[in-house]
Amino acid sequence: METKLLLDFSPIKGYRIGYAPVGKPYMSVICYQIDELLIDTGPANSRRALMGLLDPKTISRICLTHYHEDHAGNAAYLSKHHNIPVYGHALTAEILKKPVKLKPYEKYIWGNLETIDIHPLGDSVKTENYRFTLIHTPGHSDDHIVYWEKNQGWLFSGDMYLGSRIKYFRADESISQTIDSLKKITSLQFDKLFCGHNPKLEQPHEAIQRKIDHLENIIGNVQYLYTQGKSHKEILQELVRGRESWLVKIVSMGDVSYKNMVLSAIKDIEQKSSA
Ligand SMILES: [Fe+2]
Repeated sequence: METKLLLDFSPIKGYRIGYAPVGKPYMSVICYQIDELLIDTGPANSRRALMGLLDPKTISRICLTHYHEDHAGNAAYLSKHHNIPVYGHALTAEILKKPVKLKPYEKYIWGNLETIDIHPLGDSVKTENYRFTLIHTPGHSDDHIVYWEKNQGWLFSGDMYLGSRIKYFRADESISQTIDSLKKITSLQFDKLFCGHNPKLEQPHEAIQRKIDHLENIIGNVQYLYTQGKSHKEILQELVRGRESWLVKIVSMGDVSYKNMVLSAIKDIEQKSSA
């Protein structure tokens, strides 16, 4: 089943797309068009849905927030078949020029991720009417960037926000880096947060602050048990119990879980104490 919805954020267009072989898509992604710029391209298995909403003739450039398959999945296709150049952080370019080995669940939920040569971006991107400042925001992934339109008060935040009380991390996410990047974002002036999955058009700073508080609370709980001399196993037992989304954990074969958030906090605390 396909999800395809045109979101009108005039003058911005949002293309919400998703796909599942059986039943309703578990998650959808939003690609944003501003003037002739497309931010993110959605997953490969939702290509038909994207092309049903997007007129590629109106796009002269694609900018990616990060390399993940649900954001960069149609970049190679749009570049090859519609001759649209793709841009992103230098790290995104580095990652996408080689094949990214997707886990079976990633392929199942989002489809393939083709290699592509993308152009590394400088500090800003201009369209006919707007100017976006790029801010490097690692944590969710090392290459993650957000696009800030200061005059309009827009922030295109990829996967930086997602939700105030997120319940899971991928295995390679860093909780401390995520908090640092979220704090970097809260220092910016904007009133509309164009998240790649969950836009926040009202009080976005408050929503981001709630996420920072939530993540700091997890680190605080881990720190408390760690200083009491509890083992990793005991910390995990105490903090993960009752909080895990087993469906997500099973489908992702353990790659996406609440446990990963706690493990990331343990890793950061140990790194800090050994420094
Ligand atoms: Fe992501």
